[in-house]
Formats: sequence, structure tokens, C-alpha cells
Amino acid sequence: MPSLRRLTPADAAAHRALMLEAYEKYPEAFTTSHSERVGLPLSYWAERLAPADPAPTVVFGAFDTQGRLVGVAGLNVPETRIRSRHKGLLFGMYVAPSARRHGAGQRLVQAVLEAARARGDLRLVQLTVTQGNDSAQALYERCGFKTFGVEPMAVCVDGRFHAKVHMWRELG
Ligand SMILES: CC(C)(COP(=O)(O)OP(=O)(O)OC[C@H]1O[C@@H](n2cnc3c(N)ncnc32)[C@H](O)[C@@H]1OP(=O)(O)O)[C@@H](O)C(=O)NCCC(=O)NCCS
Repeated sequence: MPSLRRLTPADAAAHRALMLEAYEKYPEAFTTSHSERVGLPLSYWAERLAPADPAPTVVFGAFDTQGRLVGVAGLNVPETRIRSRHKGLLFGMYVAPSARRHGAGQRLVQAVLEAARARGDLRLVQLTVTQGNDSAQALYERCGFKTFGVEPMAVCVDGRFHAKVHMWRELG
């Protein structure tokens, strides 16, 4: 069972490597593409992991017994407007194939939900999952997320359009 902790700027290289693997191996699962991120400096990744109170972005990592980063999921709070800043966004969910089906995915989602609750200013968390990514959607449903819509032609990957399922979960 992998151990979990919040990533810090010292984890930037490992986070970058794992996300580039994710974008390359599962292009349909992510809105971000490998080509958009591969050229960015390490400081881009480090800045996203920088501590702040409250931090606009928090990323949790799952580590195997040798201390290698094998899974990640993040919480982003993109909204600053008063009327919509109660919404957080779960993003960047990935578990390396060697570490799957041991509950790391579920624990990462739970860590994101706990972080969202701990902030005190969020009422709900939203996410999107590509239509047809049934294992990821099932995982989110197990964690209490419900579908509130399907966005047609949400992403275009190598000339093919994919719909995105929009899900949400009240924090309560
Ligand atoms: C989706 C993803 C994050 C799931 O990660 P994971 O660590 O395998 O997740 P979990 O282990 O919590 O659950 C996955 C499955 O393992 C099962 N499982 C969990 N613990 C288990 C255990 N101890 N023994 C056997 N099976 C187990 C779960 O029931 C679940 O089964 P299901 O797929 O039939 O519903 C991973 O497959 C992934 O990274 N996919 C590619 C990228 C992607 O799609 N990201 C999501 C973008 S929205």
C-alpha cells in the first residue's frame, strides 16, 4: 500500500516526470497535452507545489516502498470571484500502471477532499472525466461524486473529439 503526502517544490522533478508519462500514455484522459508541458522549465512545476495559506494548488502524491512517486492528484481553486469561490477542482489524477488496483487512486481522491474541507472556504469539488474512461468515473462515483452534465466535443485529441463528463461532490 503506497504512502501518501502533500508534494513540495522538492518533488517537482518527480511530479513532472509522472505527469509527462501520463500525458504521453493516456492523451485522451487529460485536457493538457504532453507537447504543451514538456518544454516548460522545472520552476513551472515547483511553483505549483509551493506552500501558501491558502495555496491555489495543492498536489498529493502516493509513494511506493522505495520512495518513488507512483500516483498524484491535485486540488485547484481557480475562482477568486466572491460568488463562485466556493468551488474547488480536482485535477491531474494519475496512478502509474505498476501501482494500480491497490487503492492509491481512492486515497488520493480522499486526500484532495480532506484538503478541500480543511480550507474552510470551499463547499464543493468538481472534476471532469473523459466519457468512456469507465474505471476513473467509477472511482469518482465510489468517492461520492455525481454527474451533472456531459460536455460534447470537450477536447480534441489528434483530430478526434471526446466528450467530458462533469462531476461534483458537496463537501459537507
Ligand atoms: C483511474 C486511476 C487513477 C485509478 O487508480 P488506482 O490506483 O488503480 O485506483 P484504485 O486502486 O483506488 O481503484 C481502481 C480499481 O482497483 C480496485 N481495487 C482497489 N483496491 C484493490 C485491492 N486491494 N485489490 C484489488 N482491487 C482493488 C478498485 O475496486 C477499482 O476497481 P474498478 O476499476 O473495477 O472499479 C488509474 O487507472 C489511472 O491513472 N488511469 C489513467 C489516467 C486516468 O484515467 N486518470 C484520470 C483522469 S480523469
